[in-house]
Amino acid sequence: MLVLGLETSCDETAAAVVSAEGVVHANVVHTQIDLHRPYGGILPELAARDHLQQAIPVIQAALAHANVSLPDLAGIAVTVRPGLAGALLVGAQVAKTLAWATPLPLVGVDHLVGHLVSVFLHSADETAPQLVFPYLGLLVSGGHTALYRVDSPLPAGITEIGATRDDAVGEAFDKVAKMLRLGYPGGPVIDQLAAQGNPRKIRVPRPMMQGLEFSFSGIKTWVRRHLEEQGFPPDPASLHDLCASFQEAVVDVLVTKTLRAAQQEQVSHIVVAGGVAANRRLRDRMHQACAERNLTLLLPSHSLCTDNAAMIAYAGAQRLVAGQCDDWSTLTTHTRTELLRTSRKGRGKRPLQVVRSN
Ligand code: KG4
Ligand code: ZN
Repeated sequence: MLVLGLETSCDETAAAVVSAEGVVHANVVHTQIDLHRPYGGILPELAARDHLQQAIPVIQAALAHANVSLPDLAGIAVTVRPGLAGALLVGAQVAKTLAWATPLPLVGVDHLVGHLVSVFLHSADETAPQLVFPYLGLLVSGGHTALYRVDSPLPAGITEIGATRDDAVGEAFDKVAKMLRLGYPGGPVIDQLAAQGNPRKIRVPRPMMQGLEFSFSGIKTWVRRHLEEQGFPPDPASLHDLCASFQEAVVDVLVTKTLRAAQQEQVSHIVVAGGVAANRRLRDRMHQACAERNLTLLLPSHSLCTDNAAMIAYAGAQRLVAGQCDDWSTLTTHTRTELLRTSRKGRGKRPLQVVRSN
């Protein structure tokens, strides 16, 4: 059972062909990073226009790489939330048109669910990852930072148990990199520079160490003040130490809260997903911490951490297997996730236990 996945929620136009068992037959990603780099961040209208241009060639490339044509497929999965409004509309409209013309079943996918199940993906010659439900998912990307209890690969089986009150962790990496004039996106550059620095050289505060919620906006302000005091630009050695010390503070928070959440939920399997899961220090420290506590850690490969359509195809395939399908005439897009949320950006914990967001 092969599913075509389509992802256009942010700054990657991606298409993939994946089986319901998680075998990736094709995974094509066109990134817009060069397009947005001069602006130091993503320009929503430019993103949507580029998706419009790239969507069909990227789908054609994925089908050709998998050596299949549309009638060979069991369905089409497309990211419908959360993301940039205009960017999401392009992918959804392309997927609807394909579903109408073929006709193949269509399923809308929540991008966050895609990240959380990306760990099930593997190539035909790899064995499938041994992962048991429920597991604890730490999702760390440019737009989201949250901990989830994952009881099934369907949205109804995924519950947020703590999230950021302000910036996402990838956003903190990107903003600190911007302050240091390191270019966009900042995460990979800080990762590289930090490898040459001393993570204990500068005492960067660990924000909000209690509980399961996160806050990353204070750390970025701390870096700005540090630069004002120490002078800009820092010499190369100080830059390396600052990157390493900032990264270590962030990683400390992420590792501590993930272990706390795993203990609270009594789960023995942990998954770290999203763009920041590509961070080498986070991967190393998480491996070490899980090994010490006899927890099983699963991390997607580097290329599957950042945005891709293979995770969308897989999440969509699980919906199709469960007998779910969307009507192309009514399927619509939303800028927010459909996952149950416990924290509200900027406002802390929700007074009610769980509220479905729309
Ligand atoms: O998941 P993703 O591709 O897009 C979103 O859904 O947001 O994540 C992109 C984010 C960016 O903020 C980028 O700086 C960060 O992931 N990132 C990293 C690394 N690679 C990407 N952050 C830290 N270390 C990395 N190696
Ligand atoms: Zn993402």
